[in-house]
Amino acid sequence: MSLAALLEKLPIPIVQAPMAYASAADMALAVSRAGGLGSLPAAPIAPAEIGLAVAALKAQTDAPFAVNLLMTPPSAPSPQEVESALARLAPWYAEVGAPLPAALHQYGQDFTAQLEALTQAAPPVASFAFSVLSKAQVEALHRAGTYVVGTANTVAEARAWAEAGADGICAQGSEAGGHRGNFLAEIDASLVGTMALVVTVRQAVDLPVIAAGGIMDGRGVAAALALGASAAQMGTAFLLADQAVNGAVWQAAIRKATDDPTRLTRAFTGRYARGLENRFMREMRAVEDDVPAYPVQGVLTGPMRRAAEAAGNQELMVLWAGQAVKLAGPGDAGELMRRWWAEAGETARALAARTGASPPRP
Ligand SMILES: Cc1cc2nc3c(=O)[nH]c(=O)nc-3n(C[C@H](O)[C@H](O)[C@H](O)COP(=O)(O)O)c2cc1C
Repeated sequence: MSLAALLEKLPIPIVQAPMAYASAADMALAVSRAGGLGSLPAAPIAPAEIGLAVAALKAQTDAPFAVNLLMTPPSAPSPQEVESALARLAPWYAEVGAPLPAALHQYGQDFTAQLEALTQAAPPVASFAFSVLSKAQVEALHRAGTYVVGTANTVAEARAWAEAGADGICAQGSEAGGHRGNFLAEIDASLVGTMALVVTVRQAVDLPVIAAGGIMDGRGVAAALALGASAAQMGTAFLLADQAVNGAVWQAAIRKATDDPTRLTRAFTGRYARGLENRFMREMRAVEDDVPAYPVQGVLTGPMRRAAEAAGNQELMVLWAGQAVKLAGPGDAGELMRRWWAEAGETARALAARTGASPPRP
């Protein structure tokens, strides 16, 4: 089999986006059982726990699923960098009444160890963002029987993944919620919209493309397939699902989202990400280019964000969401998928009637 065939055979060609701190195994299982491709976000999982997490999923479903890692290089910021980052955060910590964190020896998980554990665990599909694997790393995953999906924000990044031997590309348009995956160009040159990105990546590489960014319902799924994508990857659309783990405060902010509520920010984690705009994003904008790179800033803001959340304060916590967040709705993840797929059928029928491909219904 190939990844293209796996996606082609999915009863519902929807990939549930891996969402670190917002989705977990229950959502992946619900989606895979309903006929889509569920994804487990393994970025926050320690290498020693990855094998157990993948084995638990395998034990609970025969359906395919994906496991996702964020490719973060080991980070050893200088003491001065940490000190000035903490000085900048001090007033925010004072506001939430939490002590400033201490400098650490290690920031974030060890990606090399995580990848080794994932390769051994051999999930059906592994997806990656923030960089590109080496050919040898892709080959090791292939030997284990795992298909590899690489996230691209530009055509050049899709080509880099194709050259590394990936089986498919997740084309992440600028509408997408959460972190940008860009790794070859700066942020300004990595904000292609989903519609333009999917068609240009399709043209550039001979691999199945998974469209991501701004897809919220069956109309978006139909549109992604019409552009030539093999599947639609949806994240924000699942943020109010029964299986979502993003918490009540974040979900309340989503429920009252205004028409154009999201912005990109580097202030929370040191890597650009899209979320509902709040005061921390606005007031840190002028200095966000100066904060330590991901994952250091994310670790340094962590206790502040958690204290804000505990106090129900939406202004100082991460509220990742994509541009079409207003369309997010509640429900069981499997039910939502079935509804979207039915809507995609209705959209296709309406389009066929409009184009004259089939006569309108009586
Ligand atoms: C809350 C949240 C967390 C995310 N975490 C991850 C992650 O851990 N790994 C990853 O590859 N992508 C992550 N993403 C990005 C998604 O894979 C995907 O690109 C995005 O959700 C698609 O756009 P949409 O949110 O408009 O559907 C995250 C997105 C959101 C909204």
